[in-house]
Amino acid sequence: MDKETLIESAKEARKQAYIPYSKFAVGAALETRSGKVYLGCNIENAAYPVSLCAERVAIFKAISEGETEFKQLAVVADTDRAISPCGSCRQVMSEFFNQDVSVHITNLKNDLKTVTIDQLLPYSFQATDMK
Ligand code: THU
Repeated sequence: MDKETLIESAKEARKQAYIPYSKFAVGAALETRSGKVYLGCNIENAAYPVSLCAERVAIFKAISEGETEFKQLAVVADTDRAISPCGSCRQVMSEFFNQDVSVHITNLKNDLKTVTIDQLLPYSFQATDMK
């Protein structure tokens, strides 16, 4: 799938954001190596820290259905610059993404950066560090 199509899916997913507190909507679309797409939006909670970001919703949906091989992730929000994923989402990406996974971060003005998880989170903590 081309990245433009995946970004359009992320924009559609963004419309489902449950954001009564921040009013800041984020959408994500994650394509697996097998070509399936998992959508995510941010889902907030009155107990604020319980809220979940769009990226993690998409990743956890995919993982919960047995998907472990990913091709690309698109993330979009109405920001001045391309959306910058939070640190927690970067750590989750580092668990499941290798350097072949393209992460397209963008906004409604179509500013676009395509990065890898190593660029988003250099020198990340890994399972191998616990050996
Ligand atoms: N948020 C995301 O969903 N993804 C990001 O990349 C940045 C932040 C959400 C979390 C919260 O619901 C709202 O945006 C404001 O932080």
